[in-house]
Amino acid sequence: MHDFLYRQGEMHCENVAIERIAKEVGTPCYIYSHHTLVQHYRAFDGAFHSVPHIVAFAMKANSNLAILRLMAREGSGADIVSGGELYRALKAGISPAKTVFAGVGKTREEIRYALQTDILMFNVESSAELRAIDEVAAEMGRRARVALRINPDIDPKTHPYISTGLKKSKFGFSADRALEEFKLASSLPHIEVVGVHKHIGSQLTEVAPFVEALKKILLLVEVLKSHGTDIRYINIGGGLGITYSDERPPRPQDLAEAISPLVHDLKCVLIMEPGRVIVGNAGILVTRVLYTKQSETKRFVIVDAAMNDLIRPSLYGAYHEIRPVREVPGAKTITADVVGPVCESGDFLAKDREMPEARPGDLLAVMSAGAYGFTMASNYNSRPRVAEILIKDGQIHVIRAREEYADLVRGEVIPEFLST
Ligand code: LLP
Repeated sequence: MHDFLYRQGEMHCENVAIERIAKEVGTPCYIYSHHTLVQHYRAFDGAFHSVPHIVAFAMKANSNLAILRLMAREGSGADIVSGGELYRALKAGISPAKTVFAGVGKTREEIRYALQTDILMFNVESSAELRAIDEVAAEMGRRARVALRINPDIDPKTHPYISTGLKKSKFGFSADRALEEFKLASSLPHIEVVGVHKHIGSQLTEVAPFVEALKKILLLVEVLKSHGTDIRYINIGGGLGITYSDERPPRPQDLAEAISPLVHDLKCVLIMEPGRVIVGNAGILVTRVLYTKQSETKRFVIVDAAMNDLIRPSLYGAYHEIRPVREVPGAKTITADVVGPVCESGDFLAKDREMPEARPGDLLAVMSAGAYGFTMASNYNSRPRVAEILIKDGQIHVIRAREEYADLVRGEVIPEFLST
């Protein structure tokens, strides 16, 4: 579900006309619905009510402070992958006791920062990292809680760039080496092994890979328990897909019904790291048509948003529905590429898209842009990053101001020898 619906031909976010928002804050801008975000979080969290669990929102999907604060209020923890994400999570009031830290390249500074703030655990991805954590914890006179990330070698049947659980992937330990790694971990004096982690990929549209991967992990948990390692947390990662066009992904309820019985009697806390399923359809990118252009072979709709604002179409060939903010009855259907002002042929939001004819000045809504939209934005072509807006109870809240030109050069220095 989401709250971007038409009323008398005009798209609204909750009760607020998108056109009004665009007029007030300009374009392009990301617009999020508070109601959708809360509903999505509650649907996910509620689905797992029958088992003790922690929802650790994967903030790489959307790390705006206001959205994180909203998640914190709902009781969410955070799945983080950097010191910067930890900083944001803490600033937003997310409890370190519900924060887990993944990623293959944690630096010693990041490890120290995470230990200082006493996060719940590190999801460890290599023996070298395990040793580094042990050493940093020793320096600090602490013991670090860890889960080992197991790579169950399951094909999640999603885009190769966002599939992470195959043998050839850089993530985690292979299931056959896991036992040895757990032995190493248990032998390190400043490491406390408390869990097992897996995450096999993103935008999964079936339950089966989740179940298959979990079953592999549970076999391991059984062996570990018989060796006296007290596994208290099972982390199944994120990855639940959403509808971008005609996918029919399982609902959180379906996932819970498949997963909960498997972990019910284990006396473990289930950790989940959903990102996309919470925020993806809770946000849109609104852009204005600048020009239209007809080449010999193609028609182009040139808009003011570009690949630097939303890179998913360029990077993954991802499909985002593009809808007119104001429906024009009887509008002609055209086939066009929707492209931005960036100087790259790869700069497009849609290719060969059938859409109602769009004219200069029209507003378009790029749907399902709440996850991996703004967080992957850059300043490429010296384009200021766009504003982010949160709509709640008919109110427009600017939760990130549009960047100004001065923001583009912040931190840059012309050295003395070039100063005259
Ligand atoms: N946990 C871990 C360890 C992850 O690596 C990820 C995503 C998640 C959880 C959250 O997955 P989600 O529930 O959002 O599927 N930029 C790509 C997606 C990259 C996902 C990276 N890891 C995209 O735009 O599709």
